[in-house]
Amino acid sequence: MGRLLIVEDDAGVRTTIVNFLELEGYSVDAVSSTDEALERLTQTAYPIVISDIYIDARTGLDVLEAARRKDPSCSVILMTARGTMETVMAATQGGAFDYIAKPFDLDRMLETVKRAEASRTPETDEVEREELPETEMIGSSASMVEIYKTVSRAAPTDATVLIEGETGTGKELVARMIHRNSPRASQPFVPVDCGSIAPTLLESELFGALKGAYTGADRDRMGVFEAAHRGTVLLDEIGDVDLGFQVKLLRFLQEREIRPLGSSKSKQVDVRVLAATNRSLQKMVEEGKFREDLWFRVNVVRITIPPLRDRRGDVLLLARFFVNKYNLRYSRDVRLNESGLKAMEEQAWPGNVRQLQHLIERLIILAPNDRIDSEAVHDALEAMEAQDHPAETLAETEAEQIRRVLAATGGNKSRAAQILGIERKTLYRKLERMKL
Ligand SMILES: Nc1ncnc2c1ncn2[C@@H]1O[C@H](COP(=O)(O)OP(=O)(O)OP(=O)(O)O)[C@@H](O)[C@H]1O
Ligand SMILES: [Mg+2]
Repeated sequence: MGRLLIVEDDAGVRTTIVNFLELEGYSVDAVSSTDEALERLTQTAYPIVISDIYIDARTGLDVLEAARRKDPSCSVILMTARGTMETVMAATQGGAFDYIAKPFDLDRMLETVKRAEASRTPETDEVEREELPETEMIGSSASMVEIYKTVSRAAPTDATVLIEGETGTGKELVARMIHRNSPRASQPFVPVDCGSIAPTLLESELFGALKGAYTGADRDRMGVFEAAHRGTVLLDEIGDVDLGFQVKLLRFLQEREIRPLGSSKSKQVDVRVLAATNRSLQKMVEEGKFREDLWFRVNVVRITIPPLRDRRGDVLLLARFFVNKYNLRYSRDVRLNESGLKAMEEQAWPGNVRQLQHLIERLIILAPNDRIDSEAVHDALEAMEAQDHPAETLAETEAEQIRRVLAATGGNKSRAAQILGIERKTLYRKLERMKL
């Protein structure tokens, strides 16, 4: 707490207040005129100012204005023996913290100062809110800064870029940044998830197919490479492409030519190719699972995004960013406090930024007390984990249900069988199978 400023023309009252507050442990500056007060306030921002209203040619309202101009968070306490509706109104509208009628007792004054003090210290140890940068890609760790540099160098070129990183580290985001900062920015950016498209369909998806080229091809279909002409294609999960199709990709990267399925004519297209993978292509090459020649073609510029646990300093920035984003989206005012942040910084984040993002979205919607503390973080992580590993087979679901009912009946098997709607014998048999 900085020094307090007392503005009071009556020497007796002034000395009484100063002595009292100093005894209470405050450091106090005291002046007797508005001139001196305004002079002080141009030099110093006081956290709390206590001022009489009727002093000389100017009043406590001028002191109030000067104090708040210097520091809008300054708490100004006004005192007067001649309070009127008008002065109280003016004081309130001018942002006075409180208004004390004279004569006052000193305890009342102390109570008011304490309240002013408390209003300045945030209730929780809330993580400081900072101006958010105008960017979608958050992170200031050394490794992220290196990535930004590579992106800015590679973006203006047509170079193929291989983006590696665990799931949720932001590979697609990096690809979009490259596209957006390239001369192709106004043209399409088309991501293709090579991992989720059946190998037989991948060819028509990328190169297109004429009507009747395969069963179900009821019309001509334009492939992604043609649709993205002059733009950028992201071959996502390129590590999942089977060896046979890798040859076709290689040829495309060399020639930039497409021949739709069922067609005899080739067409030249102008696309930039980016590739992403959460596996190590290099290792796949060593294991004979990825063609070395394709690897060379793709790996012209390589960006490896480190997992979030290797750049924990970014957790704070990301957490702030997502808290702000989801507060806005859901019209909430949930605060992140230090313990919540610490809990986040300590996590291993196997799902990386995506997992952190989902956690925060969930907390913004569900946080009790509008506060994210370590307990809320741990509870939400647990709940999310349970969601991620649902009982998969019917047998598992059944076993789960039996366990729950048994727990609810305190282990009473007859009651449990009754609730489950099965015979006791059946329950025993099932328990045996479950080794319970
Ligand atoms: N540095 C970052 N700043 C802000 N948001 C990020 C960052 N990294 C990732 N995200 C967000 O996390 C989510 C996952 O990112 P993205 O889809 O790019 O990951 P990915 O590496 O492609 O994951 P996957 O391998 O599972 O496809 C997205 O919503 C993305 O916007
Ligand atoms: Mg992705």
